[in-house]
Amino acid sequence: MAETTEITNTNNESGYKFFTSGAPRQPNESAFKYNFRKLFTIKTFESMDEDQRKSELRKSLSAFELIMLGLGGIIGSGIFVLTGEAAATKAGPAVVISFILAGIAASFAALSYSELACMIPISGSSYTYVYATMGELVAWIIGWDLTLEYLVGAAAVAVGWSEYFTQFFYEGFGVTFSPAWTNSPVQWDQASQSFIRGQGYMNIPALVVVLLLTTLLVIGIKESARVNAIIVSVKLFVLLLFVIAAGIHINAENYKPFIPPNQGQFASFGVTGILAGTTVVFFAYIGFDSISTIAQESVNPKRDLPIAIMGSFCIVTVIYVVVSVVLTGVVSYTKLGSSAPLSVAVNETGMRWLGIIVDLGAVCGLLSVILLLLAGQPRIFFAMANDGLFLPGIASKVHPRFGTPYIITIIGGVICAIAAAVFPIGVLSELTSIGTLLAFFLVNIGVTILRYTAPDVPRRFKVPGGPFLIPLLGAALSLVLLGSASTASIARLFIWMAIGLVVYAFYGRRRSKANNPELRDKIDTPNKEQDSEKFTNDDGEQYRDNANH
Ligand code: ALA
Repeated sequence: MAETTEITNTNNESGYKFFTSGAPRQPNESAFKYNFRKLFTIKTFESMDEDQRKSELRKSLSAFELIMLGLGGIIGSGIFVLTGEAAATKAGPAVVISFILAGIAASFAALSYSELACMIPISGSSYTYVYATMGELVAWIIGWDLTLEYLVGAAAVAVGWSEYFTQFFYEGFGVTFSPAWTNSPVQWDQASQSFIRGQGYMNIPALVVVLLLTTLLVIGIKESARVNAIIVSVKLFVLLLFVIAAGIHINAENYKPFIPPNQGQFASFGVTGILAGTTVVFFAYIGFDSISTIAQESVNPKRDLPIAIMGSFCIVTVIYVVVSVVLTGVVSYTKLGSSAPLSVAVNETGMRWLGIIVDLGAVCGLLSVILLLLAGQPRIFFAMANDGLFLPGIASKVHPRFGTPYIITIIGGVICAIAAAVFPIGVLSELTSIGTLLAFFLVNIGVTILRYTAPDVPRRFKVPGGPFLIPLLGAALSLVLLGSASTASIARLFIWMAIGLVVYAFYGRRRSKANNPELRDKIDTPNKEQDSEKFTNDDGEQYRDNANH
């Protein structure tokens, strides 16, 4: 790569400093070399510190609240819904091994996120980390990819929510909703590897819940840490109750065979089944990284983000292992092929009251996951808009009264609602998982790179074992899991990324502040008016949105 040159635009009021690979074209430089070099422009720590300083978002979240937000965003469809499919069709009782393997893969990423989050404690999560390490093109790729984690992930959880919602009304009040309006119009057929007509016309509950939560996010119902804490407490209480009450009905016979023999196709059972199950249940760990999208609202981000990421991660790992052991011990794995497996297990024990509580716990608990995922997406787009890479005029537009990024929230919410109404959970969750695995891969590599490119930046938390061992193992494991996803999902990922690259080539590349210093003032100008405009939140406190800086 060409020698680096520091470009410091001190005349620019915004004060951005970018460490570029020499933005001005050198006299003897070919156009190809010049353009290639620009793809790897890196955002400096100075400019990120500046973003952090200028942010006037209310810094109110403590480590405990961050952990609760983490738990609110993590525990969802993965354990409440997907465990059933993974046990019944992939791993059998060995689904617990799948949970442990997925936990190990995710733990490496959790360590890497922790190190980067305390070095770069500003919103934007992995997008920002990658901009600081691998440059603009890869940052764009990851920003685009995160849509899969947040929007498609929210759609997947909404479909899971719909299952428990209908189950709850059935168990609690004997009300049956028409399957035509609670199921997806398409299903993925493994055998023919194609979409086939599903049971329904549209999944209305999934559509409605996404639209309602989007409305809440627009009118400024800030994801209050207190409300989230209540939801999380309900969720944890229900899971604990399930473990204790259903646990006494464990029948050791149900664990035999612990690893059912492979059936020769589609990675069902055996060791390959456990691996396929790992890819499925990996979804259950997604969400700890959403803590890093709220970095700027933490009181002491450098200390608390690693605590919150690792703390919530360890808690959910224990919960998942225990719940899956109880689940497969109470009922034969062959009966778990339901979208509400915990209810199946509870019904097996005859404790109808517990069934209703479990359904209610899932209905409440999944709401916080959808909300956090839906709230995460605009923050990523904010960060990208702030760098000039993605629709600065739209993504950073803040509602004059509600003080929320309403346009991008509505666009994202509508897309998510349509996906939730149309697609089955398996298709959505697998796409979410591989999108997230790609992000994890890059974040792991980012740790190694920054140990060399920014050795002096203070790190309150360091991934143990040096710059290579854990980050590179984590990166390799992420790739292995990504590779064990279905060909169809990998193809969907490639198609999505190809669209993203076209958008970058024709839009992002030409608009980025880092590579187009002449545009910085222009991109910043529309925000200047808003910079002076402060918003008042429900508590009467004033704040400015960080997208404006
Ligand atoms: N981890 C979240 C869930 O399981 C996405 O729903």
